[in-house]
Amino acid sequence: MCGIVGYVGKQKAASIILEGLKRLEYRGYDSAGVCVLQDGQLEVAKKIGRVENLTKEAAKHRFTGTTGIGHTRWATHGGVTDANAHPHVSSDGKIALIHNGVIENYGQMKTFLTGKGYTFKSETDTEVLCNLIAYHYAKESPGAGGSRFLESVRKTLTHVEGTYGIAVLCVDCPGEIVAARKASPLILGVGEGEYILASDASALISRTQNVVYLKDGELVHVTPTAFFISTLDQADVSPVVDKITWSIQDAELGTYSHFMEKEIFEQPVALENSMRGRFSEDGSTAQFGGLNLTAAELRQIDRFLFCACGTAWHACLVAEHLIERFARIPVEVDYASEFRYRNTPLHSNTLFLVISQSGETIDTLAALREAKRKGYKALAINNVVGSTLAREADGGIYQHVGPEIGVASTKAFTSQLMVAAMIALYVARMRDMSFSDGVQYVNALKGAPDLVRKALLQAPHIRAIAKRYAGYSDMLFLGRLSLFPLALEGALKLKEISYIHAEGYPAAEMKHGPIALISEKCPSVFFAPNGEIFPKIVSSMQEIKARKGPIIAIITEGAELPPGLADEVITIPECHEAVLPIVSSIPVQLLSYYIAVERGCDVDKPRNLAKSVTVE
Ligand code: F6R
Repeated sequence: MCGIVGYVGKQKAASIILEGLKRLEYRGYDSAGVCVLQDGQLEVAKKIGRVENLTKEAAKHRFTGTTGIGHTRWATHGGVTDANAHPHVSSDGKIALIHNGVIENYGQMKTFLTGKGYTFKSETDTEVLCNLIAYHYAKESPGAGGSRFLESVRKTLTHVEGTYGIAVLCVDCPGEIVAARKASPLILGVGEGEYILASDASALISRTQNVVYLKDGELVHVTPTAFFISTLDQADVSPVVDKITWSIQDAELGTYSHFMEKEIFEQPVALENSMRGRFSEDGSTAQFGGLNLTAAELRQIDRFLFCACGTAWHACLVAEHLIERFARIPVEVDYASEFRYRNTPLHSNTLFLVISQSGETIDTLAALREAKRKGYKALAINNVVGSTLAREADGGIYQHVGPEIGVASTKAFTSQLMVAAMIALYVARMRDMSFSDGVQYVNALKGAPDLVRKALLQAPHIRAIAKRYAGYSDMLFLGRLSLFPLALEGALKLKEISYIHAEGYPAAEMKHGPIALISEKCPSVFFAPNGEIFPKIVSSMQEIKARKGPIIAIITEGAELPPGLADEVITIPECHEAVLPIVSSIPVQLLSYYIAVERGCDVDKPRNLAKSVTVE
């Protein structure tokens, strides 16, 4: 949610931190701040609004120091005010802190600290944590130097209930940062004579591709010449330096107006990357390197349980359809946030899978941990290499679509659909799917990027439709079978970036309630692909038309609608059932995007949202 950047090196810290914050803005954007250690002081600038506001505010300060921390906030405790923005400085002026997460027992700590004479300028849990570090720092033996700073952070964290990713400065320790994490991502970039801390690789990729992923319960002490990792109970940890495989260009807009637009148009290549190396030599099935399950174990599986949140949950619903349809294995799908508290009965041959682009969504992580605690193998489909989810899962499948920066998920979603289709194929071929059906299925998946390219050619037509529909306040999205999840996804995309109220429904269910909403003021977007069920979908459209509801129909090539039934028609290529949800995603992504642009919305940073939801 919030973004963290820290810098220790030879350059002026403030400009490097501001650049990092700009790249992290998609994680949270209600306020931002920076603190630089210079001339024996903690110099702070913070401002509500975007990083742009902070940059203007920072220009009023003379930031010269080479050690600093910065933050973009997504408010949890306390409203959106300059005072509540991070960094916070302890009331004795010794410690500055930035924090992602939630400190649950901050109330008790605040009472304790107030009794000790510490004062507070904000309503945040973070300022309480900051003062508690200052309290422990004051109590530690002054002779201990940098380790006094480290130990005061360590001691504080042993009293903390909740989640955190923190970076801390101490006025007495120039060139040093102490950082730690529990359930909030934190990465240390190891550059040429400098270290950059960040909650997300995009903030440090312009300076280094060498990174250390910190684990939960670890602290890192960064000094000008080295870094040391240890655990909360003081055990030393040998660092593993990994290399980020994508580059700065992948995290830049290029010629596009928004990251969402760029990511929509990147989908053909993203799908190719998700498939690369994942088909058997005989071309009849999929293969995965990291499942950590033998073929015999997989054959034993008689039930799948998928968990995720938001768009990734919609991908799970498509997985359900494909696995049940092609492999004939029952699949259950649950919201990760519900699963963790529902105490769902699990059977011994159930395979538990979570889907998450970021791999940091707290509810999805909690669901994975709950399944593991119950003794189940828990696998993850995940995009961000080195994410907490990737490290905690028993195995899994990386999506390999590069960084997704637009808050509304697009390329990660279609890649999740592709991985789901490959899993369905893999387990189907272990059971009743024939060699020739497998070959046909594989060829269909391989053809998906070109079909998506073809669907993207509809962009100017969809843009023209968007202009006509941008003024509505309500919209319905209707689909059946594997395209019912697409109706949910279409509605989510539209509401999150354009603020138009939208609902997704199974097309035939519409007459059991939502039809009451239909009038000339409420358009419906119908998925109407060619096939057995096409006449039924046409009947649902007739019911809408009879009530004067405008209709946007997404049909496949060759499907023939009765003349005049749809007000707008978008045609996508005819495709295999396993590929249909992927190709059908394109028109609804483009429609939502162009409607939001038409309404003047901030597409990449919709209000109240953040890219990865690391609080419950
Ligand atoms: C919507 C969207 C969100 C995410 C959800 C889960 O466009 O992006 O609904 O899908 O927050 O995020 P991940 O996949 O990172 O777990």
